[in-house]
Amino acid sequence: MATSIIRPTRRGLLQGAVATAAASTIPTGWAIAQAKPLKLGLMLPYSGTFAKLGENITFAVEMLIAEKGGKLGGREIQIIKLDDESKPENGPQNADRLVKRDQVDVLIGTVHSGVQMGIHKVVRESGTLTIIPNAGANAITRALCAPNVFRASFSNWQCPYGMGLVLGKRGVKKAAWVSWDYAAGIEAAEGFRDGLAKEGGELTKILTLKFPETNFQPLLAQLPELGVEAVGAFFAGGGAVQFVKEYKSAGIKMPLCGAFLTEGTLEAQGAAAEGIETALHYGDGLDNPKNHAFRKAFTDKAKREADVYAVQGYDAAQLLAVGLEAAKGKIEDEAALYKAMRGAKLDSPRGPISISPSQEVVHNIYLRRAENGLNKVVGIAAPALADPGTGCKLG
Ligand code: BEZ
Repeated sequence: MATSIIRPTRRGLLQGAVATAAASTIPTGWAIAQAKPLKLGLMLPYSGTFAKLGENITFAVEMLIAEKGGKLGGREIQIIKLDDESKPENGPQNADRLVKRDQVDVLIGTVHSGVQMGIHKVVRESGTLTIIPNAGANAITRALCAPNVFRASFSNWQCPYGMGLVLGKRGVKKAAWVSWDYAAGIEAAEGFRDGLAKEGGELTKILTLKFPETNFQPLLAQLPELGVEAVGAFFAGGGAVQFVKEYKSAGIKMPLCGAFLTEGTLEAQGAAAEGIETALHYGDGLDNPKNHAFRKAFTDKAKREADVYAVQGYDAAQLLAVGLEAAKGKIEDEAALYKAMRGAKLDSPRGPISISPSQEVVHNIYLRRAENGLNKVVGIAAPALADPGTGCKLG
C-alpha cells in the first residue's frame, strides 16, 4: 500500500485530510492528534459553601460522557479537575493552570460568578472553548460575550426576574432583597427589581453581606422595619441552609422567596423551608421522560437526588457533545463546532432548551413551592425566557 505522509496545516486538517490519513499506514499528525484523548478541564468548587454544587455538576458531566460510551465526537475524554474553592482572587491563576500548564482543549467551569470573571479573562485571550455550568454573571453573555464561551445554565438576571413578575402580578407593591454582596446577589436583585417593576411593584431596599459570610442576624433584624410585603433573597448551598433556618426562627411575617434559595438544600433546611416560593429553570416534579431518566441515572451514580446544578452540568456536557459530534472530534474546527452549538436544541431534564444569539440558554422559568421536601412546580413564572444579551456583538 502506498503511503503518503501529510504534514498537516490547520487548513489542511479541516479540509478533508481525514480520508488520506485513514488510508495511511503511518500515523500522520492529524491521526495522532485525533487518537489522543480530548482534555476536558473541570474548574469547579470541591470545597467551601458551594462544594456540593461542584460535585453535582461533575457527576452529571461524567454521566453524560458515560452515556455516550466514554467518547464525544469519536474522541476519548480525559478529565482534569481543579478545585477553585469559589475564591475569585485565585480565578485567573487557576484558569491559567488548566489552559497553559495542563493544556486543556475545553473548559467546563464554574459555579461562582466572581471566579467566572477570572476564567473569562483567561479564555477570551486563549480562545479555549468554555462552557459555563452555573455561574450567572450577566456580563459574560452581554458586553463581554465571546465566540468561544457558552453558558448552559442561566444569567443572574433571569430567575429573579421571573420571581419579581409573579409577585408584581399578585399586587405586591414593595419588596426587599437580601443577598451576598457580589455579582450573583446584586444582579439577581436587578432581575427581581425589573420583574416587579414590569407589574407595578418596587424593590425598595437591598441588604447585603460579604460572600461567604453567614452573619445574617443584623440583616434579619432590619427587615420588619422596612414596610415591605415580601422579601426576596439570593443564597445558595450551605449559606442558603443557614439563612432559611434563621429567617424562620426570627419569626418574620413577610413571605420569603428567591431563586436558588431552596435548591438542593431542602433536606438540610427541613420544616423551615416549607412553603417558600422560588422561580427557577428546574423543579423536582417536572414530568417529562428526559427528567425521569436523568433523575434515576443520577441517583444511581451519585447516591443522592439530582438538582438544578446536576441538570446544568449534564446540559453543559450535552452542548459539548453536539459541538464535537458536528466537528467530528476536531476541536480546532471552530466553524463547525460553534455553528452546531449555537443552533443546538437540547432535550434537557428542565424541558426543551435552545441557545440565544449571545450564547445563553433560553428556557422556562418555573414557579416552585417547597412542599414536603420537594421544590414542587406550581406554574410557569416566565415562559421561554432569554437574557436580553445587552451589548453582546458576535459574528
Ligand atoms: C453565582 O455565583 O453565579 C451563583 C452561585 C450559586 C448559585 C447560583 C449562582
